[in-house]
Amino acid sequence: MRMYDIIVKKRDGAELTKEEIEFFVEGYTKGDIPDYQASALTMAIYFQGMTPEETAILTQAMVDSGETIDLSAIHGKKVDKHSTGGVGDKVTFIVGPLVASVGVPVAKMSGRGLGHTGGTLDKLESIKGLEIEMTKEKFIENVNKHKLAVAGQTGNLAPADKKLYALRDVTGTVDSLPLIAGSIMSKKLASGADSIVLDVKTGSGAFMKTLEDSENLAREMVNIGNNLGRNTVAVISDMNQPLGYEVGNANEIREAAEILQGKNVEDLRQLSLEISSHMAVLAEVFTSYDEAYAALEANIENGKAFNALRTLVEAQGGDVSMIDDLDKLPKAKYDIEVKADKDGFVSEIDAESIGIAAMYLGAGRATKEDEINHGVGITLNKKIGDEVKAGEALVILHSDDETPQSSIDKVKEAYTVSSEKVEKPTLIHNIIK
Ligand code: URA
Repeated sequence: MRMYDIIVKKRDGAELTKEEIEFFVEGYTKGDIPDYQASALTMAIYFQGMTPEETAILTQAMVDSGETIDLSAIHGKKVDKHSTGGVGDKVTFIVGPLVASVGVPVAKMSGRGLGHTGGTLDKLESIKGLEIEMTKEKFIENVNKHKLAVAGQTGNLAPADKKLYALRDVTGTVDSLPLIAGSIMSKKLASGADSIVLDVKTGSGAFMKTLEDSENLAREMVNIGNNLGRNTVAVISDMNQPLGYEVGNANEIREAAEILQGKNVEDLRQLSLEISSHMAVLAEVFTSYDEAYAALEANIENGKAFNALRTLVEAQGGDVSMIDDLDKLPKAKYDIEVKADKDGFVSEIDAESIGIAAMYLGAGRATKEDEINHGVGITLNKKIGDEVKAGEALVILHSDDETPQSSIDKVKEAYTVSSEKVEKPTLIHNIIK
């Protein structure tokens, strides 16, 4: 088989065979196929697309290029949750304990953040002592005992994707639906869950800006999952503004804990219950969405969901007193208001700019080497649709610097106040199964 013929075949719009796709993925991972041929093929895929069968084969080949995590020692159906990335997205900290409280086993492997969206592990490490590195045995033992563990990604999962993604990043071939879907799903499938709930974000702060693109990506991913024997459901949720009111690390943990204590931060609670309900049905703990939803809501009211968060923190060596008394979580030195300069209604909040403003404060990393400051962050005072008066605070910056000018400027850039009344955006746009 020659790589040249595979490139030409895809360039001309034909469907590749399993053998051809596997030849490419194996050869590229080993270094037998050079970057220039791999980039020619990805560009051909960018223009010609892939059939659902080709995409599933590509994904499986990327899974097979490295280690896979064997979760079979965990009792019950394991359900994973993945978000395509958003600002203020602390849903994992709510959904994990919430579904664990009704008996769904969650073996969550997460990463760190880079750029304008924060990482799950960075946020969790706001809790003093909390250990996210553990042996595989301990990880499995914790899930069996407490139904929930969160650990840093270990092992060499989907190395073909790692190499291919780095190549796509510099050759203009990131924005190809089958390649994005295959990339995300290869890492999820290698992590070993039986079923997957995808939170596909849509809007200005999302990877996919339009609903149509987000739905197409969701469909591709659901097809791959179902084709490869994992029940997969995608929730398309809005990212035209940050989720909830808090963006940062410790403050996001605080907000998540408050939701588990019953606080009604509307969008955050609604999305968390939505995702949790699908997870509980896929785990076969409940037979219907409505039944799952009611049980999950009840566990927020009766304290079991919050208790599951306490248990997670305790089991991983974290300081539980920080969860019992949320004021003990790290805090920044200064609270600085960024004020509206005119009366009106908030019509836009560019989530990406808010994420960047938080990063400038030290809540995120601009480069891999940067240290996270867990206490800094942003509290939104106003969200889309809210009325605002000139001089009222739009946000509060929690900063260790008395005048964080670049963050102030970025927040001002993020907010648009218009004179006309604005509707609140729809939160959940679609469910794709
Ligand atoms: N995220 C991924 O993991 N892969 C892509 O291709 C795009 C976004």
